[in-house]
Amino acid sequence: MTAPILIAPSILSADFTCLGEQIQTAEAAGADWIHIDVMDGHFVPNLTMGPFIVEACRRVTNLPLDIHLMVEKPERIIEAFSQAGATILTVHVETSPHLHRTLQRIRELGCKAGVVLNPGTSVTQLEPVLHLVDLVLVMSVNPGYSSQSFLPEVLSKVSYIRQRLGEVNPTALVEIDGGINPHTAPLAVMAGTQVLVAASAIFNHPEGISAGINALRDSIK
Ligand code: DX5
Ligand code: ZN
Repeated sequence: MTAPILIAPSILSADFTCLGEQIQTAEAAGADWIHIDVMDGHFVPNLTMGPFIVEACRRVTNLPLDIHLMVEKPERIIEAFSQAGATILTVHVETSPHLHRTLQRIRELGCKAGVVLNPGTSVTQLEPVLHLVDLVLVMSVNPGYSSQSFLPEVLSKVSYIRQRLGEVNPTALVEIDGGINPHTAPLAVMAGTQVLVAASAIFNHPEGISAGINALRDSIK
């Protein structure tokens, strides 16, 4: 039997005046993970959340916290995020000249280790660390903002990575992030994605968070 597809709502589009309630609503509606977008204003133009928010999220849910680090030199801050309650720490291959060491350190800290590729980054950069990861995140938009349009050219990258992980690290998951909605989710799943990140399709759904999660689930049945 194939494993169910996981849904990871990204709180980037949540209403921060009631973040705890929004996370609990997502959890009650069947969210599998909570995705937290950390942006430093350097690697990406936007500036968002730090360990303090992760610690607050940790207090309102027992779901895995999936931390997407869009920051330069992520090795400087992984310990703070692990102490704040991160479950998965995912670093961009473009940000770390010592990627291998950073992934090892994430695991030493007791977290799962993920690696992310921008749409313009080649899969060949992953090859030396494929055996060291629990997760590969494929960006399907250029990172920095929610509500951008899905880039279909990344689907072949998803398929290739899923195939390579099958050969060298079969339990590692492939996650996709950016422009995921009921139209694009089936394409991502067909290509081999196992974890769907979505911000606007869930938190900005006109009928609410639960409807957003249900619509995604229905689209991939
Ligand atoms: C983009 C972030 C995404 C973003 C997705 O840089 O990494 O997680 O929140 O937003 P949507 O789902 O609206 O494209
Ligand atoms: Zn993200």
